[in-house]
Amino acid sequence: MWLPSRFTLKFAVCALRRGVLKSHPHVLRRGGCNTAAFMPEAAGFEGVSGRAALQEFSVSNSEDFWAAVARQRLSWVRPFHTVQDCDLSRGRIKWFQGGMLNVSVNCLDRQVHICPERVALIWERDERGSEVRYTYRELLEMTCRVGNLLKRYGVKRGDCVTIYMPTCPLAVASMLACARIGAAHNVVFAGFSAEALAERIRDAQSSIVITMNQGVRGGKVTELKKTVDTAVQSCPTVRHVFVAMRTEKLVPMTDRDVLMDEYVFSYHDGDVFGCVADIGWITGHSYIVYGPLANGATTVLFESTPVYPDPGRYWETVERLKINQFYGAPTAIRLLLKYGDQWVNKYDRSSLKTLGSVGEPINTEAWEWYHRVVGEGRCPVVDTWWQTETGGICIAPKPSEPDEEIVPGMAMRPFFGIKPVLMDTEGKVMTSNNTSGALCIAQPWPGMARTIHNNHQRFIETYCQPYPGYFFTGDGAYRSPEGYYQITGRLDDVINVSGHRIGTAEIEDVVNQCSAVAESAVIGYSHDIKGQGIYAFVVLKKNMKIKEEDLYKQLNSVVSEKIAKYACPDFVLLVKRLPKTRSGKIMRRVLRKVVESDLDSLGDLSTLDDPSAVQEIIEGHAKISTKGQ
Ligand code: WTA
Repeated sequence: MWLPSRFTLKFAVCALRRGVLKSHPHVLRRGGCNTAAFMPEAAGFEGVSGRAALQEFSVSNSEDFWAAVARQRLSWVRPFHTVQDCDLSRGRIKWFQGGMLNVSVNCLDRQVHICPERVALIWERDERGSEVRYTYRELLEMTCRVGNLLKRYGVKRGDCVTIYMPTCPLAVASMLACARIGAAHNVVFAGFSAEALAERIRDAQSSIVITMNQGVRGGKVTELKKTVDTAVQSCPTVRHVFVAMRTEKLVPMTDRDVLMDEYVFSYHDGDVFGCVADIGWITGHSYIVYGPLANGATTVLFESTPVYPDPGRYWETVERLKINQFYGAPTAIRLLLKYGDQWVNKYDRSSLKTLGSVGEPINTEAWEWYHRVVGEGRCPVVDTWWQTETGGICIAPKPSEPDEEIVPGMAMRPFFGIKPVLMDTEGKVMTSNNTSGALCIAQPWPGMARTIHNNHQRFIETYCQPYPGYFFTGDGAYRSPEGYYQITGRLDDVINVSGHRIGTAEIEDVVNQCSAVAESAVIGYSHDIKGQGIYAFVVLKKNMKIKEEDLYKQLNSVVSEKIAKYACPDFVLLVKRLPKTRSGKIMRRVLRKVVESDLDSLGDLSTLDDPSAVQEIIEGHAKISTKGQ
């Protein structure tokens, strides 16, 4: 088994996906377990043999486990004296006290020392076929230059710099530069409006904002600098805006603005980790920047969209960059499934070893397609569950022993150091299998959130108080008879129809199994008799011709067969798109507001991938609510 000691634990799942591990000469099979080979520092854990025993050790001897990992895999400026001092019930979470390290040094200098010319980043630019590679040495140089610039403009330890940039090397260097000089970074997704950006700059009290003249995504140009100009008008703390050039277009500059230099690049071969999330989300932070770099991986920065210039973009990129591990979101998989297999089959995907999924439950049909078509049935699909608050993957099918099963659409196994529990409605821990409950984590782990910026009380109320002594995730989960976990969705999304509680994801999974359906979103709405009724928004596959009545009949029969009659939708609205965040999550809040005819409180729609989707839904709903179904 196989974790080379340079791997941090937080990144171990990805490391396993990188396939580095497969080539290790000491891969051991179940039964013949040498845990030290699975994870070298486990040599010191007495009597621990095999993956399951190691997981058990990691939660029952959490301190020994994390101390060994932290010492082995990270470079410390000053060693820690206390592994942890945590009290979940009071929201006190302290790890590695007395210790000091610099994450940028761990991501860069440590790697440059070992292998300076290894490719750190492959920037998959929006313009197909124009990728740019940066080595660890180059990324370190770039980071130091940004760091020096920040210091020159007065950024000090503890300050918070706002980064409003698309996924690109300079954004990574800016994050690492902040970390290097001890500043915090506040990465704001580059699709947010001026108002949403301003609110976040004010919250962070930034004196510096780093941006670009323009952004380019899916062939469309966005005026980033202009948005920043508008935003900073209501942000008195901002003293300077650093502007890098993504395009040739000159934009108006003022005394406040500082133009950033161009940088150098070169080409190298390497093992390639392709996480196609946006850098503004936690997945981008943990699995594009910090995780891969701290482990010396080559990481892809995907600037484009899955359908630009056509729906073959991901797989063409896989072929061209020879991506070994592909990590994406179910929403994109469902979108591509809609266009058919030919866009996948056109490209050589033989470099792929593992396919990952994150962000929402992956429905069975999407999982099967990802596995069968994209991965040609030979790449394991790993459904990874985690959240911003957990910092990194917490439940995933791998690592597991080589011959252990992977069940479609299930995150399955707790990661090392993670002890999931299910709670019943009275707040008691449910011990049996084949049961569902509120998903909590029973003990702290180093990657977890420790507070909410400027609002520790809210942190305590949201995560620590609902189930005292436990970390509450807000998600529901089912534990199978074998003890595997399946996430059933946010608990707020549970619908109660005539006393039957059911997760929206469960209904969506079944609706999506109808052959004509590409994807769907289900919400509850208030219903005089049943308490809540079910409303389904459905997107059909491309070029699919089906009479509406036939579709309703099909939906009803499949839902009653696979769940129950009470779960059949009362309303079905056919739409071309669903309102989603740019990270791919369906904005159920928006759907609920439309159905409640509360259009005044739709909230900030600038975080949506395509705000025009909402208009179509408003009009469609108006029609069916007058005519009925
Ligand atoms: C959901 C993204 C089902 C869940 C890393 C969680 C998932 C929220 C999965 C966090 C999964 C994430 N199966 N649901 N594999 N992964 N989720 O903070 O509801 O953007 O709480 O972090 O996404 O979203 P966040």
